[in-house]
Amino acid sequence: MNAAYVKIQDCVNYIRSITEFQPRVALVLGSGLGGYARNMRVEAEIPYGDIEGFPVSTVPGHDGRFLFGYVGEVPVVAMKGRVHFYEGYAIEDVVLPIRIMGMLGAEILILTNAAGGVDLSFNPGDLMVITDQIVSFALSPLVGPNIEELGTRFPDMSRIYDPQLVASIREAAAENGIKVQEGVYLQTTGPQFETPAEIRMFRTLGASAVGMSTAVEAIAARHMGMRVCGVSCISNMAAGILDQPLNHEEVQETANRIAQTFETLITGAIAKMA
Ligand code: HPA
Repeated sequence: MNAAYVKIQDCVNYIRSITEFQPRVALVLGSGLGGYARNMRVEAEIPYGDIEGFPVSTVPGHDGRFLFGYVGEVPVVAMKGRVHFYEGYAIEDVVLPIRIMGMLGAEILILTNAAGGVDLSFNPGDLMVITDQIVSFALSPLVGPNIEELGTRFPDMSRIYDPQLVASIREAAAENGIKVQEGVYLQTTGPQFETPAEIRMFRTLGASAVGMSTAVEAIAARHMGMRVCGVSCISNMAAGILDQPLNHEEVQETANRIAQTFETLITGAIAKMA
C-alpha cells in the first residue's frame, strides 16, 4: 500500500484510540484565531506531538493541537496551529493533518490565514473570503505516487472553493454586519516576504492576497472530495504598497486586533453550513 496512506492511517488510528468524536467540519485556525477554542465546547484535545510521525510546527504563536468539540450544534475538529512548507517539511507532511481530518469524517474544510493585501482597494484588518487560488509559485501537495484510496491522479480544481460555502460565509457576514472582501489567494513558499516586484507580478496575474499556507491544503482536501472554503485576514498591505518594511509582529498585531470579528464570522458561517 502507498506509504503516505499508511502514515495517514496510523495517525487516524492513534486519534481513534483517544476519541471517537465524529467531526462534520474541519477548521484550520490561522493567525488571530488561536483563541477560537473559546467558541467551542471542547470534548477532547490531542497535542500534535503525541501523534507519531505528525509534523510539529516551530513558528512562535503557532501552538499545535487538534481540538474536538461543538460550535453550536456542529461537531468540529479544529487545528490550533498548522504546518508550513517553509519549516522544512515534505509537502505531503504539510497536508497530512488535512487528510487526517478528512479521514476522521469531516466533509467540509474551513481554512483561515493571515495574508498580505495585494489588491490596492484592501486595508489591513479586512477579511477576505477566498473565491479561488493560485498555487503555481508553491509545490503541489499531490506530487508523488497518487494515493488512490483518497482520490484521482488528476483532480479537477475548477471550483476549488465551494460556491455554496462561499455564499454561507457571505450571508454570515451580512447578518453580523461584517464587511468582507472577496478575492484570489496566492501561495508562495515563504518564509521571506515578497519583493515589491513580485507583488506587482502577482497583482498582474490576478492575485488579491498573498500568503504562505492554505492553497496546498485546499488542493489536498479537494483531491479527497472535501468541500473547501476559506477566509484571509488581511494583516498588512503586501510589499511595496506602503512605504514601510514588513514584519511578523505587524501580521500578529492586526490578526489579534480583529480576532473577535473573525471569530464571529467563522462561528456564524459554521452554523449556516451545517
Ligand atoms: N506576504 C506573505 N505572507 C503573509 C503576508 C505577506 O505580506 N502577510 C501575512 N502573511
